[in-house]
Amino acid sequence: MRAEAIRRIVRAYDDPVVRAYCWARFWVLRQRFLDEIGQYLPESGCVLDIGCGFGLFSLYYATTGPRRFVRGVDLSARRIALARRAAARLAVENVAYEQGDARDFKGDGEVAAAYMLDIVHHVAPEHVGPLLRELHRCLADEGVLLVKDVDTRPAPKRWFTWLLDRLMAPATPVRYWSAEELTAALGAAGFVVRRHAMRDFLPYPHVLYVCAKRSAA
Ligand SMILES: C[S@@+](CC[C@H](N)C(=O)[O-])C[C@H]1O[C@@H](n2cnc3c(N)ncnc32)[C@H](O)[C@@H]1O
Repeated sequence: MRAEAIRRIVRAYDDPVVRAYCWARFWVLRQRFLDEIGQYLPESGCVLDIGCGFGLFSLYYATTGPRRFVRGVDLSARRIALARRAAARLAVENVAYEQGDARDFKGDGEVAAAYMLDIVHHVAPEHVGPLLRELHRCLADEGVLLVKDVDTRPAPKRWFTWLLDRLMAPATPVRYWSAEELTAALGAAGFVVRRHAMRDFLPYPHVLYVCAKRSAA
């Protein structure tokens, strides 16, 4: 069912370049990883997808969790328009998209969870702390923030990721965070952080940060 959900989502985009990108993205963050990330999402409630891009993963988590309401935010008006069109085609009603800048994100209500998939390294470092603090503020007490990003080590994997980022968006600066540095930034924003290693045969230094607003103890 979930593999079929991925196929349906990709078919909702007409542009062959976007479709190829979607296949590539679902190959990098494939079923196994989506399950690894998704296991931490609540089954219901409002979930924020900051930097949702074309809406692939918000559509996936909305489709596989019909009692969730997923709100995607992205800087790119074009990506938001394509995400809205794909949601309409798929008749997925528990998603909404808005254009917005993570650098001045302000939550307008309490959310059960939020996630950022490969976003932090696209945001200038001075904006990351305020963004994390704002996400902490708008999460419910038992809420969770999931951050999937790339580590700076091992160096060959970092270079591989850098090369792909240059190819995909040559004009966009990137700034990678070491796992220790990002863990410290999340902790400083008030989160209790657990790192979940996402081991891949592809040369991606993936790290998933599972961030609780409140300690389980
Ligand atoms: C590598 S893509 C990841 C997209 C999506 N999360 C995914 O995993 O497919 C990075 C996304 O971050 C968005 N982005 C970059 N800077 C942003 C900002 N300041 N605020 C919101 N979105 C931003 C870009 O438009 C792009 O869609």
